Amino acid sequence: MRRPIMAANWKMNCTVSQARELVSALKGLVSEVSGVDIVLAPPFTSLPEVAKLIADTDISLAAQNMHWEESGAYTGEISPVMLKDIGCTYIIIGHSERRAYFGETDDTVNKKLKAALHYGLNPIVCVGESLAQREAGETTQVVGAQLQAGLAGLTADEVNRVVLAYEPVWAIGTGKTATPEQANEVHGFMRQQLSAAFNEATAQAVRIQYGGSVKPDNVAELMAQSHIDGALVGGAGLKADSFAGIVKFEG
Ligand code: PGA
Repeated sequence: MRRPIMAANWKMNCTVSQARELVSALKGLVSEVSGVDIVLAPPFTSLPEVAKLIADTDISLAAQNMHWEESGAYTGEISPVMLKDIGCTYIIIGHSERRAYFGETDDTVNKKLKAALHYGLNPIVCVGESLAQREAGETTQVVGAQLQAGLAGLTADEVNRVVLAYEPVWAIGTGKTATPEQANEVHGFMRQQLSAAFNEATAQAVRIQYGGSVKPDNVAELMAQSHIDGALVGGAGLKADSFAGIVKFEG
């Protein structure tokens, strides 16, 4: 059985005081939850504050991006060592917004992934097709290529530590969710790819989140699918009650 993992990617939202309010409310709502990994990915500026607030809980901390080098002349960048130092245990890599707006490529995803594994951060690696690619029937080709290049050079043991997130770009922030069956089909395809590239045990062990307009009222049907192990949540992660509903798989 793969352990469910629910992650809230706050994107570029929340000041430190707003982060404090959100996390305080959320803690009360999920304090009884067990058997689910809960991950919060606030912006860099709120990471230390959120780390303090969740220190007495099982909630884990993630950053939304990082550089692959340990230190150096990379103005504006944050290193894996810095993130570990302030209590991050997860790192989101290759989100479609970083790919679309900030020049993230499969090559930089691969470098960041290797760095995350090297420095002991748990990577959440995002893949997904655009609307045009889906309509052109290219979904599996695009996702397959992103996976192959993103995971290039990793051993099966390393891949076991990776969480994947399938996020169809056309479903992010649009209110359009892939149907649970559509999502499950791609997740199943991703497992086949993992089985071919690594081995069947790894393919069955890796957790694959779905992301794209996940809400309390659609989470249960998504989580009922055989290959969906969690959610990477944007908008609904910014409200304590809606993210708590997602964590509990209930609307
Ligand atoms: P959304 O974002 O839940 O707002 O659609 C998902 C994501 O980008 O991870």
